[in-house]
Formats: sequence, structure tokens, C-alpha cells
Amino acid sequence: MDLPDVDWIMMSTTHLDSDHDVATAVDSHSVLHSRRYSLAQIGGDGIGPEVLAEARRCLEALAPVFGFEVGFHEYDLGAELYLRTGELITDQVLASLREHDAILIGAVGDPRVEPGILERGLILRIRTEFDLAVNVRPAQLFPGVPTLVKGLTPDRCDLVIVRENTEGMYTGDGFTSRENSQWATAVQLSLNTRHAIGASVEFAFKLAQRRRRKLTLCHKTNILLEAGKLWWDTVREIGEGYPDVAIDYVHADACSVYLVEQPERFDVIVTDNLFGDILSDLAAVVQGGLGLAPSANLNLTGTAPSMFEPVHGSAPDIAGTGWANPTGAIFAAAMCLSHLGEKDAARALEWATIVVLGTLGAMRGSGMGCTTAEIGDRILAELSQREADTRDAPRGSALEGVYRSCTDLTLQKG
Ligand code: IPM
Ligand code: MN
Repeated sequence: MDLPDVDWIMMSTTHLDSDHDVATAVDSHSVLHSRRYSLAQIGGDGIGPEVLAEARRCLEALAPVFGFEVGFHEYDLGAELYLRTGELITDQVLASLREHDAILIGAVGDPRVEPGILERGLILRIRTEFDLAVNVRPAQLFPGVPTLVKGLTPDRCDLVIVRENTEGMYTGDGFTSRENSQWATAVQLSLNTRHAIGASVEFAFKLAQRRRRKLTLCHKTNILLEAGKLWWDTVREIGEGYPDVAIDYVHADACSVYLVEQPERFDVIVTDNLFGDILSDLAAVVQGGLGLAPSANLNLTGTAPSMFEPVHGSAPDIAGTGWANPTGAIFAAAMCLSHLGEKDAARALEWATIVVLGTLGAMRGSGMGCTTAEIGDRILAELSQREADTRDAPRGSALEGVYRSCTDLTLQKG
């Protein structure tokens, strides 16, 4: 069990400064760990900019407390830009994004734009260009958070979906023949390489090794014979290097039942891109709602920055109403901090967020009892309150013992 470091807030800026040079050599995009981070901020569409603004405020508040520096560069990308100029993302913008230590993205998708244009032209483009090989999506039920799953308790829901992030059905390859006729035929190809599967599987084994040492492959080997065999063979082969990790297999359809009925069955699930997309939405509902689920798109080789985003979409129906839940974006920012090596700040942020979540009336809409910005305010207040409390009387929190970090999942050293 990964117990919290209760002393996090005792680390004054001075203390951290003296530790400055110790926290080096993270295996990340920024080779030299300078503790100055340049982040790309892509608000995107719908509620994306609103939730990301709260995530940014949290990062800016944490920086002086934990002794790091953070700067943001806002990128105007998404539906508005596309409708105005026809532009999605230029090579120049991609080159500029590449210069940052990490990317935060809100959401992409707009009903005014034909499906697929923004998704393929922006998110998928960045995922493939930057070789963001895995998409890490934790689902943990926090104390006090209501879930639709009757009787589910936090001790039974703590899992991570490792989604292969660049291939499968997502390559978009295929064709349609005899279009606009009764005989119209669409062929949609799924591409699966040993290389990409291997990267996801290796990452999933490493993650499982740090957790409860159980890896579940989720696929449809009974139907998708070619891809299924390649996934299974890869898991068996790589698994030989991880004899301490137990291997399980579930079909994707059965997985959707187990996620609801027995989420405790899972520790790390490794799966194909499309299954991972669908099952991570379901897992998010099991943990209380899409509004609080984060994800990390990781570049595993240090060749480009990783990208952090909430699992939810642009939710155009509530954009501008102030009823978007920003905690998915805030947890994603905590995953980003953890990835950059700022583990204490990441942990502080996730604690404060979990505490505030436990006080909300609901996880979405007006039932939350406070707006997007007020949730941000409450998390900031919780952070400074905790700082003051810990200074007076350092001790563990009520969460101690029931808590495992939900955002320290990128396997970067701190
Ligand atoms: C997600 C989203 C994306 C996906 C869309 C926006 C392309 O649903 O990150 O889960 O399908 O991967
Ligand atoms: Mn999705």
C-alpha cells in the first residue's frame, strides 16, 4: 500500500531549494530536471477551457509552496480556430508544442464541426506525432464520493486502465465502396503492431509491479483472432520478465460486467485503443462520474512531451453554464506534476481535490452545489488550510490508511 507522505506541507521553499539538485535525472522529455516547467495549455472546445483554467490556478498556487516554477503558454486550437480559418494544427504549432515539458489539454469536439475532423486533426494527431504510446486512466472510488454502483466501497475500486494509444481502430484506415447506394460497403481496418502492443504491455507490467501485481489483458480473442493472438503472445512473452505479476485475461464484453459488479477483480488492465476508450468511460462512472476522471498520454521514450487531459469530452450542452466539474482536469494536472517529478505537490493537489469531492452534493451539474470556479476556490482553500494545519501540528489526515495515490502512475522517478 502506497501510504501518503504526511509531511508534504512541511517542505518549505527553503528546504526544497536546498534539495534542488537532488531531484535530477527523471527519465522524461526534460533531461535536466530544473524544476522550472513550461506547460502548453490547450483549452480546446466546450467546457475544456473552463476546467483547464481551474487546473492552472491550482498549479500556480502550488509552485511557490513546493519551490518550483511553472509557466503556461496558451494555444488557440479547436473548433473556433477551425471554423474561422480552416486550420487544425500546423507543423509550426506542433514544433512549438514539442518545446514544452508537458501539455495540458481540456477537450476537443464541437457539434458545429463534422465528427472526426477535430478529433483526428488535433488529439489523434498529437498522440501519434508525439508517440504518446500509452493512455493511463486510473479509476478509484474516493471516500464520500457517490457512485451509481450500489454498495460499492472505496476498498473495492482501485484500478488503472493502460490503453494502447496510437493504433487499433484509431488509425482511421479503411475505405467505402459503392457509396450512396444500397450496396454501400465500409471497411474499417484495425492495425496492431508488436512494437506498440509491446510498449503498452511492458508499461502495464511495470505499473502492476508497483501496485497489487496483477495484470489483466482485456480483448476479444474469441472474435478478433489475429489481433487477439498478437496481444496474448506479447503478454505471455513480456510476462516472463515479470514472474511476480499474476496474469489474467477477460473478454472486453465480460470486462464491462466485472467493472460494475466486481471492480476489485482488477489492478492494472491493459487493452487495445478502442476497448480502452469505451471501458475507461465505464470505469469513470463506477468511480463516481466522468467529471472526475483524469488521463495521461505518455511518451515513453523521452522524444516528445506527454499530454494530460480529463477523460470527459467537451460537453457543449453545459459549456458556459459554470456547471462543469473541473476535478478530472485537476487530477490530470496532478498526474502531470507527478510525471515531472513533483510528487509532493501532486499528492497535495490530489488530497485537496479528494477532500473537496467528498463535500460536493453531486459530481456533475447544478447538483454539485457550487460552480466550476467555486470548486477551484475550495480546492485552493483546502490546500492553504492544510498547509496551516500541518505547520501547527504535523499529523496524518483522515484519509491516511485508506488512500493510495491515484495520480502517481507515470513511472517517473521523483
Ligand atoms: C478520449 C476521447 C478521444 C478518444 C476522442 C476525443 C478522440 O474520447 O480521450 O477518450 O476517442 O480517444
Ligand atoms: Mn473517450
